[in-house]
Amino acid sequence: LLVRYMFPALLLHGLGEGSALLHPDSRSHPRSLEKSAWRAFKESQCHHMLKHLHNGARITVQMPPTIEGHWVSTGCEVRSGPEFITRSYRFYHNNTFKAYQFYYGGNRCTNPTYTLVIRGKIRLRQASWIIRGGTEADYQLHHVQVICHTEAVAERLSQLVNRTCPGFIPAGSPWAQDVPHDLWREDSGCECTRAMNFAMHELQLIRVEKQYLHHNLDHLVEELFLGDIHTDASQRMFYRPSSYQPPLQNAKNHDHTCIACRIIYRSDEYHPPILPPKADLTIGLHGEWVSQRCEVRPEVLFLTRHFIFHDNNNTWEGHYYHYSDPICKHPTFTIYARGRYSRGVHSTRVMGGTEFVFKVNHMKVTPMDAATASLLNVFSGNECGAEGSWQVGIQQDVTHTNGCVALGIKLPHTEYEIFKMEQDARGRYLLFNGQRPSDGSSPNRPEKRATSYQMPLVQCASSAPRPEDLTEEHRAHQYGSGARQSSSFPTFLTAVASLWTVPHWNVLR
Ligand SMILES: *[C@@H]1O[C@H](CO)[C@@H](O)[C@H](O)[C@H]1NC(C)=O
Ligand SMILES: *[C@@H]1O[C@H](CO)[C@@H](O)[C@H](O)[C@H]1NC(C)=O
Ligand SMILES: *[C@@H]1O[C@H](CO)[C@@H](O)[C@H](O)[C@H]1NC(C)=O
Repeated sequence: LLVRYMFPALLLHGLGEGSALLHPDSRSHPRSLEKSAWRAFKESQCHHMLKHLHNGARITVQMPPTIEGHWVSTGCEVRSGPEFITRSYRFYHNNTFKAYQFYYGGNRCTNPTYTLVIRGKIRLRQASWIIRGGTEADYQLHHVQVICHTEAVAERLSQLVNRTCPGFIPAGSPWAQDVPHDLWREDSGCECTRAMNFAMHELQLIRVEKQYLHHNLDHLVEELFLGDIHTDASQRMFYRPSSYQPPLQNAKNHDHTCIACRIIYRSDEYHPPILPPKADLTIGLHGEWVSQRCEVRPEVLFLTRHFIFHDNNNTWEGHYYHYSDPICKHPTFTIYARGRYSRGVHSTRVMGGTEFVFKVNHMKVTPMDAATASLLNVFSGNECGAEGSWQVGIQQDVTHTNGCVALGIKLPHTEYEIFKMEQDARGRYLLFNGQRPSDGSSPNRPEKRATSYQMPLVQCASSAPRPEDLTEEHRAHQYGSGARQSSSFPTFLTAVASLWTVPHWNVLR
């Protein structure tokens, strides 16, 4: 309870840069040079990416956001359920909007089933109190229509609507393919959106980011983040967003490598987008993976993640860097966790997903600001490391206290995960893991396994050095930049560790 009240206040505090840390000099040991050069390369690569989120692109956040324009999904999105969907939303100068949600029968968004056309009005409110960096908004629906793309879907949905809202569909006029049917009309009072479990609450939380890709002033990308969807589909209609979905891109200012963006941009309810078919990639966890952006978790948490998976012995390590601010500048604490994981099996529930079981049995915590250190010191006895001994920047192993009550972590811990892998336009591997339950609980039972995904991690190091990584020139270069980098790098990056599992997010909010 104490934590619950203290944390929001704590999180307002920040901390400047930590002190410098130098790599040990291995030049005096020629035999170990190859190995340590490789290690330095890998470290510099992954840490560089974490430090320079967005590849160094300059991100600006608009407050209040300008949302006028046409925004589209960048690929096939997976919502809890699962539902496979692409979105095309238009916001007009007179505060009205027209949104298309295209639904599909599979995880590649190649077979459209039905489309919702949603019209309404949106009004931006104040900066969010729940998610720093976000803006709250209210919306009002004017008109919602559904268009089915096959006879079979028309029959299935009209039966569903007829069952949910008896009499809604006039007797003798069943729904037909390619014909718009009303689900909501403000003027006539007709309403049966609940049959489709439909809500537009994603419009209640908004953030717009602009970035210039590859330092190129001609290459502006604008992204619209809308509120998240509850992981339990039955709660969707009552949930006020507390984090974001994957962003939409502005159709005018989008990443030119985004083929899906162009397809979705040109589509409408009679010509739903059909994305290019792709095979599902087999999951290869081996290697290292880092966050691509400062991530937001329900309510006040901001963090970046760095995972290392060892396929040879099925062990993993995770580093979690927590921050108090939406651009991940002010660290609050870091966690390092490690444990084992199972071999993956194909999900029967989520097409294209692969299921894993993760165990955490070892953990270290580093408070990174005075507020977190004093919070940890409040806890007594054997609840979180050595009583009263926490200091800023000093890591402690909390394995022997079975985790850390202050952070809501209890060891050993098991989580049921789902993954999928994709490649981005530059051929880099992306790893998606399951969205955390929106109620703040932990997916510690198989039936609580996610049916949707978080923002992807990107691979920053694969298993073994490729020959080109170890050529003299490359090595010298990487070594140089690695060393330069570490000298301005906060110590917490070398300390850390953390938990996949997030029971503590429960406590923190
Ligand atoms: C708002 O603007 C859009 C696009 O210009 C137009 O289609 C719509 O009728 C307008 N709505 C109102 C209520 O003025
Ligand atoms: C709706 O359900 C009722 C009762 O089961 C049935 O008599 C009616 O024909 C159905 N209407 C449509 C349009 O399917
Ligand atoms: C698993 O393998 C990795 C890489 O080979 C190694 O660093 C780690 O110590 C091993 N862990 C265990 C528990 O054997």
